[in-house]
Amino acid sequence: MDWGLANRLHRILKPATGRTVMLAVDHGYFLGPTSGLEDPRRTLAPLLPYADSLMVTRGVLRTCVPAQADLPIVLRVSGGTSIHSELSQEGLTTAVDDAIRLNAAALTLSVFVGAPGERETLLNLGKLVDAGERHGIPVLAVTAVGREMTRDVRYLGLACRICAEIGAHYVKTYYCEDFERVVEAVPVPIVIAGGKKLPERDALRLCHAAIRAGAAGVDMGRNIWQSQSPVAMIRAVAAVVHDGASVEAACDAYETLSRGASSLAQAPLTT
Ligand code: 5RP
Repeated sequence: MDWGLANRLHRILKPATGRTVMLAVDHGYFLGPTSGLEDPRRTLAPLLPYADSLMVTRGVLRTCVPAQADLPIVLRVSGGTSIHSELSQEGLTTAVDDAIRLNAAALTLSVFVGAPGERETLLNLGKLVDAGERHGIPVLAVTAVGREMTRDVRYLGLACRICAEIGAHYVKTYYCEDFERVVEAVPVPIVIAGGKKLPERDALRLCHAAIRAGAAGVDMGRNIWQSQSPVAMIRAVAAVVHDGASVEAACDAYETLSRGASSLAQAPLTT
């Protein structure tokens, strides 16, 4: 791996743990102003200090993220569909030139295995990896799951492996039972999406199970910014991902931080 590409990747996957807490706020690119992200600037401001990287479109980056922000940007460069159309038929929306101008640390797109847009989105992945390799920018492939796809080890393993074979430098997918088998069969790091909002305990349990199964972290959105206490939640997730916190310890940390105990809010979380 070229030095520049490896360096960008290590800005996201923190060298101390090899893991990452990515904050996903790109949902508007096909969902519009979804609940909790109506005003991205307001949602993002308190969370930025706690995220290892930010997954975002160029529009929200330019308008809602201060240029002083000291965190790597994983730039969503796919889209072209909405909840009113066939979601899988995404194309590339953003030129690599612009991603470089925006100082992106990585590029990301969705691929839709088993859906009408399968071929096009996988070919887009190939093109993006070629461009990324040319400029030293890693590519995160997001295995988007259509309504009719079962989120099981067979399907997610297939989708993730195909992404790695085409050259994705890391892959995002959903957690499933036997997730170890997905991890084993994919030779690049895997991060998990959070999916729909769950009770905080369940979301922390999901993170914990994924990390134990070998995930390199999370790329989480709704379970953070739709939480009653987003900052407490992202800090509890980070405790699981980076500090090996148990589910109980992470839940306690969430409760304590969300009650606003100011001394603890400043202290590092322990297991
Ligand atoms: C949308 C995405 C989202 O960023 C991803 O699903 C993560 O967010 P959440 O944790 O809310 O599922 O890639 O296609």
